[in-house]
Amino acid sequence: MDMQPIPAREGNHNLKDYQAKRKAFSWEEVKKNFSWYHTGKVNIAYETIDRHAENPDKKNQTALIYSAPDREEKLTFSDLKNESNKFANILKKQGVKKGDRVFLFMPRSPEFYASFFGILKVGAIAGPLFEAFMEQAVKDRLEDSEASMLITTPELLERIPQDDLPDLKKIVLVGDYDEKSDNYVDYYKEMENSSDQFEIEWVDLEDGMLLHYTSGSTGKPKGVYHVHNAMIQHYATGEWVIDLKPDDIYWCTADPGWVTGTSYGIFAPWLHGVTNVIRGGRFTPESWYGTIDQNNVTVWYTAPTALRKLVSSGDKVVNQFDMSSLRHVMSVGEPLNPEVITWAVDAFGLRIHDTWWMTETGAMLIVNYPVMDIRPGSMGKPIPGVEAGIVDNEGNELPPNQMGNLAIKQGWPSMMRAIWKNPGKFESYFINGWYVSGDSAYMDEDGYFWFQGRLDDVINTSGERVGPFEVESKLIEHPAVAEAGVIGKPDPERGEIIKAFITLNEGYEASDELVEEIRQFVKLGLSAHAAPREIEIKDTIPKTRSGKIMRRLLKSWELGLPTGDTSTLEE
Ligand code: WT7
Repeated sequence: MDMQPIPAREGNHNLKDYQAKRKAFSWEEVKKNFSWYHTGKVNIAYETIDRHAENPDKKNQTALIYSAPDREEKLTFSDLKNESNKFANILKKQGVKKGDRVFLFMPRSPEFYASFFGILKVGAIAGPLFEAFMEQAVKDRLEDSEASMLITTPELLERIPQDDLPDLKKIVLVGDYDEKSDNYVDYYKEMENSSDQFEIEWVDLEDGMLLHYTSGSTGKPKGVYHVHNAMIQHYATGEWVIDLKPDDIYWCTADPGWVTGTSYGIFAPWLHGVTNVIRGGRFTPESWYGTIDQNNVTVWYTAPTALRKLVSSGDKVVNQFDMSSLRHVMSVGEPLNPEVITWAVDAFGLRIHDTWWMTETGAMLIVNYPVMDIRPGSMGKPIPGVEAGIVDNEGNELPPNQMGNLAIKQGWPSMMRAIWKNPGKFESYFINGWYVSGDSAYMDEDGYFWFQGRLDDVINTSGERVGPFEVESKLIEHPAVAEAGVIGKPDPERGEIIKAFITLNEGYEASDELVEEIRQFVKLGLSAHAAPREIEIKDTIPKTRSGKIMRRLLKSWELGLPTGDTSTLEE
């Protein structure tokens, strides 16, 4: 869609000249902001929390404002340091060592953040899991990572198949529980008796800190492995893109089970020592506007799916709240509709700045800076220190306005260092010195990048990546389902919804009840966000002669598009 660019507003002064700033930029200069540049001792938990807790001017500043329907709490940098020290001592007592995988499976809460930093402080690798995951999703991730410890709540315990996870030695339970077991550690009891003094495990910049599981088009979810070095880019984008200033009250709406919730819900804001709002509980337009109003949020990072819901909730709702504290708004996860940008200019007098990146890239790469003119519908331009391009399948750069693979020149600080236990998969991302994203896009003459779609079959529903294979595998576990093919179907609010085509085993009759039963089966076995909203029963599922499901063909049929080349279709 062609729309007039929306010019930058006066007021964001720090990035006046994009080209000049780009030329002058160097990652080396960014490194001077970290204590390890001078001391040689590295740990991202220290840079985000303890460094501020040791600063007399900052230690009593509110670091975390936790707000949920049933709980409000504020923690200073000093509190967070002490709480995470206590948790680190618990882990140490349990024998957790550098490089061990320790997973978190619980809703956002102050305990989550204390545990998260505790894990990093012992030098272990944190694996945050989205609380909505069901047994299969939890099992796949804990199994692949060989996690030795898990922090969870008693309510979620039934989704953890303990007998199938031989590596999982201990489970820390946050909350009251009845069943006694040698494998359980009582969070509150242990925290009470734990010292708030802890000697951080100093690691190397290239040592692991995080495993985020994400979906591809084939196979089980893969463990994207990030190292402490990523903080260089979290810090730089915190300054350049998020425009963080010491007095900011910042809110990132993402759950830490997804990479946005760690890179920009934890690291970037706290590396800059700002006050960070964490909201628990479910989304409603009132509760989200209320979070901004009550806490005087100044900088807000959210996602198109939520913004679209706010738009459709109407002006009457937004007008009940005072949004005047907001200075800067950003979005990520899926294409940001131009209409939403226009709406935001009306609703709170601010443009929304789209940003593009991926779990694999660890931090923002293509963005709309605070001072850039926004071309609605464009993801913006690469950040300083990053070179983006559009390449063909051999990795040759294409000229402007030509569609191709969105790719990034290798060598930015926050890049994943591995796919856990899968070097072949890792290698497959690279061609000719480029990291190839799997997105198709083009670049205009002025260097703005425009997203066109995914090149693989990965589904983006409400900003969350779902691999069709994972859903298909779950579907065919149901006794009634013989074969399954899963696609993303465009949806005005969710971006895409999951649609499944299935064939039935002999003896089963198609019915609405059966379809609903199958839907629930995926929802309760895998996760709510991966459950198909639509299930259609077919006589056959189109496959290639080699037996691969032709999802592209299913999609063309669904959307009434030309079917293209079907020469490989099985008879
Ligand atoms: C995929 C990555 C790390 C951010 C959260 C998602 C899509 C991301 C945009 C955008 C259009 C976008 C891409 C990308 N995506 N940002 N601004 N415009 N599409 O991380 O789950 O790893 O998904 O999300 O398709 O490849 P993720």
